[in-house]
Amino acid sequence: MPWSNDEWWPDRLRLDILDDNTAETNPYGEEFDYAEEFEKLDFDEVKSDIEDVMTDSQDWWPADYGHYGPFFIRMAWHSAGTYRTADGRAGGAGGRQRLPPESSWPDNVNLDKARRLLQPVKKKHGKKLSWGDLILLAGNVALESMGFETYGFAGGREDAFVSNEAVEWGPETDWETTSPERFEDGEVGNLKDPLGNTVMGLIYVNPEGPYGEPDVEGSAANIREEFSRMAMDDEETAALIAGGHTFGKVHGADDPEEHVGPEPEGAPVEKQGLGWDQEYGDKIGGLDAISSGIEGPWNATPTIWDMNYLDNLLDYDWTSVKGPGGAWQWEPVGDDIDDAPGARDASETEQPMMLTTDVALKHDDDYREILENFQANPEEFKDAFSRAWYKLLHRDMGPPTRFLGPEVPDETFVWQDPVPDADHELVGDEEIDELKETILASDLSRSQLVKTAWASASTYRDSDKRGGANGAHLRLEPQRSWEVNEPEELETVLETLDSVQTEFNDSRSDDVRVSLADLIVLGGNAAIEEAAADAGYDVEVPFEPGRTDATQAQTDVESFEVLEPKVDAFRNYLGGEYDDLYDSPEERMVDTAELLNLSVPEMTVLVGGMRALGVTYQDTGRGVLTDQPGTLSNDFFVNLLDMDYEWEPVDEDNELFEVRDRDTDEVEWEATRFDLIFGSNARLRATADAYFADDDEEQFVEDFVDAWSHVMQLDRFDLE
Ligand code: HEM
Repeated sequence: MPWSNDEWWPDRLRLDILDDNTAETNPYGEEFDYAEEFEKLDFDEVKSDIEDVMTDSQDWWPADYGHYGPFFIRMAWHSAGTYRTADGRAGGAGGRQRLPPESSWPDNVNLDKARRLLQPVKKKHGKKLSWGDLILLAGNVALESMGFETYGFAGGREDAFVSNEAVEWGPETDWETTSPERFEDGEVGNLKDPLGNTVMGLIYVNPEGPYGEPDVEGSAANIREEFSRMAMDDEETAALIAGGHTFGKVHGADDPEEHVGPEPEGAPVEKQGLGWDQEYGDKIGGLDAISSGIEGPWNATPTIWDMNYLDNLLDYDWTSVKGPGGAWQWEPVGDDIDDAPGARDASETEQPMMLTTDVALKHDDDYREILENFQANPEEFKDAFSRAWYKLLHRDMGPPTRFLGPEVPDETFVWQDPVPDADHELVGDEEIDELKETILASDLSRSQLVKTAWASASTYRDSDKRGGANGAHLRLEPQRSWEVNEPEELETVLETLDSVQTEFNDSRSDDVRVSLADLIVLGGNAAIEEAAADAGYDVEVPFEPGRTDATQAQTDVESFEVLEPKVDAFRNYLGGEYDDLYDSPEERMVDTAELLNLSVPEMTVLVGGMRALGVTYQDTGRGVLTDQPGTLSNDFFVNLLDMDYEWEPVDEDNELFEVRDRDTDEVEWEATRFDLIFGSNARLRATADAYFADDDEEQFVEDFVDAWSHVMQLDRFDLE
């Protein structure tokens, strides 16, 4: 393969991560509507097809105990379990377990076979059933097939056809390693944002214990840190691990290093996408199987929902040993524990084992208390596991309107960031015009109006469909107190908008009302229309009413914290000190743009337009490269690219710059890296070139309006 620019200049800005937001990678085409297709499925038939596969053991990968259920649960858990709250990326959406790197992670060893077993179901239902949904539904059907009542299931995860190159997985280049750079302060403990796992290539934690040592205390600390980054509290964590390990077994007949071939991504073409080819024993599967390299079942009834995992863990003492695969595992003290049947041949038997992570739960006082309560109250265990499992599978799907199918529970959960339904009629064109006039006649400036609308809508992230303008969360905690939102100024803006809302609603004798969420967006739109008119362009920014206002009680403050922008290129906010895995402000800018589903031209035109409008954090005027701020001109690009000026850094970190007139040496403006990158990066400069020419301004205004309304509508799933 020829070298590419990425290899020649490994530090260059990775703008290509934005290309996925526009590229046509879906073979079903741009018009494809997965939700519409999914609704055509006969859901019961799909479930029964999965059930059939589950108990039809295949010679090429025989089912342990004649039932693929536990295998499918592990597959579903590994698909959903990559989700991390910091950036909402990974997780089950997109079905990306079938694409690298996840497809080839050491932790996903042999799950390629689990997906291949489900291929007939995919073939039968085609585009009506995405792999993303199928992988998770198979986990649900597996639980039900083994006697567990699940909380429900929602479809709606459209498949991805390319890997998500935007995901930062960590600093290590070798699989199954952990480097100090993964953690804040370089010590094992707090993971750096946006990570969710302690080891490169593992879903969450090392099953043998931290650094592969059977250290139960360290392991419990690891579990708590990582599961909280998956939005799970102690009870949910304990329920998930105990519930999951009630089923199945671990596979480590011998050392994987010696007997297992390359992962799918590194396997030869004749393997057809399957990896981890095993040369060991005289039969495939059964007690000869090698996956994790740890060996044994957790209890004597691995395909039945019962209390045997909890009873084994809590009622027996466990001691650490090296298993046949060379890994640390735990065996029971004494020999009165019930053995499990052999996985392939019931006449063989096998003694139960525990992982370090299982024993860690027993050694940690808080987890142990929860497990003891579960043991004494099996119904509570069942309830906790079913709720936590439902949350695990659906946590990254966004608002309830996106949940599809006949098994969606009636209940709405706080982790779905619920907003109320509109209980009034919506404003029409006439009222919209009236409201825009009232807002513009108030004492709010254009920059205040645009800034507020941006602050409201730009929390959206397409990764887990959270945030956005709907709900008007901007006026609630924690959002109203975020530094980037300039709380004091925001309060005065919201007070004014609030009185516009009250006045309008009180004046109506019919059922028409306006929400604050709509009004915030409308204010931004009105200011932009006025700014465009000043530049000589008559534009109407599209506006769709229908947003509603959430209450503080509906808003989980802690869970909203992760949406706080640490930097914001669009408001030219550099933020404070942060210890994450991104190297520069501009990398963070591209990351945010990716989460906002923007293309490179959209990001470019938004930055240029917001600068022209004079929208800067604390009104510093940084990057406002124009002498007519508040007018929607293309001056930002004109002046940034102008050879009459030269730039110089004025701080140690090279984040702030002054621009001087080459002739007079006068300082004209101040700007940040967020501005200069559009002149220095070749691709961004090429894009800026499309907006700076004398005849480009009209295009610039049109593109700005399109990109702006794209962002304002990002969370309007109700309109789809
Ligand atoms: C299997 C680790 C949490 C469900 C395994 C295996 C390992 C492991 C090493 C063996 C893979 C193999 O050799 O075949 C862990 C760790 C966890 C964790 C370290 C977290 C601390 C969970 C959760 C669930 C789950 C939350 C589901 C709710 C399963 C199932 C199997 C399994 C059903 C058996 C698969 C089979 O029989 O083929 N786990 N696991 N695990 N895990 Fe977990």
